[in-house]
Amino acid sequence: MSKRVALVTGGNGGIGSAICRELAAQGHVVVAGYFPPEKESAEAWQKQMKEQGSTIALCALDVANFADCERAVAQITEEFGSVDILVNCAGITRDGTLKKMPEANWKAVIATNLDSAFNVTRHVINGMLDKGWGRIVNIASVNGQRGQFGQANYSAAKAGMHGFTMAVALETAAKGITVNTVSPGYIATAMTEAMPEEVLKSIVNSVPMRRMGKPEEIANAVAWLASEGNGYTTGANIPVNGGLFTSH
Ligand code: CAA
Repeated sequence: MSKRVALVTGGNGGIGSAICRELAAQGHVVVAGYFPPEKESAEAWQKQMKEQGSTIALCALDVANFADCERAVAQITEEFGSVDILVNCAGITRDGTLKKMPEANWKAVIATNLDSAFNVTRHVINGMLDKGWGRIVNIASVNGQRGQFGQANYSAAKAGMHGFTMAVALETAAKGITVNTVSPGYIATAMTEAMPEEVLKSIVNSVPMRRMGKPEEIANAVAWLASEGNGYTTGANIPVNGGLFTSH
């Protein structure tokens, strides 16, 4: 198995942590990008990962800021080599119905969840093209596929993310690069914990598997898409949602 350099944005988050652990377990050099103001908690997280047996590097990276992404990717490239596997995982929610949504909540979600895919990928794509090998996995959401009450901003950003996946997949298909989306359903993380309990309960009751997903279940899908073995799946949107939404 080849050892690759992997960058996971939002690597210290709920789903990001499981992805970092899985890619590290496969022998890759893993760098977790974290939101710069979270330096202290990111360092504590790194220590905890180490204690649990996973060695993961850290890089401050504001995914909503194009120039900061350029700086961070240059720093990672200098320290570890060019990024072979990119997982765009950083994301936030600012839920609320459209009739009450402040402009700031629209802009923050679009910047962090959609602009981010461009901001980071733009700085790694040429390295992958030069090498003739790359794996890009964008973490979207079931709510980008089907829409969600109270998530006009989040659903728009996540649907847009898969549009980005499909276009970049076409541009890179003949160059040894695969670009795919994973669309998680409701996964047990701090993001879903922040939801009103009753709302979460009723959504989980509507999941055919009658339970929330585990971060590891997303990480397994990501690890496969990022592997040497996946040379022929590109532009796909892989649902990992317990049957909550099915489509052709
Ligand atoms: N469908 C239809 N109507 C609904 C509804 C639904 N799902 N949920 C609420 N309503 C109705 C209410 O019954 C109420 O009706 P009345 O006005 O007739 O009484 C009305 O809508 C409430 O509207 P408000 O604008 O006042 O909404 P609110 O301020 O009470 O709260 C909300 C709305 C904040 C969006 C809340 O419903 C909520 O948090 N929903 C969860 C959204 C969600 O799923 N977030 C996922 C977060 S995790 C994640 O995003 C990860 C991932 O990828 C899955």
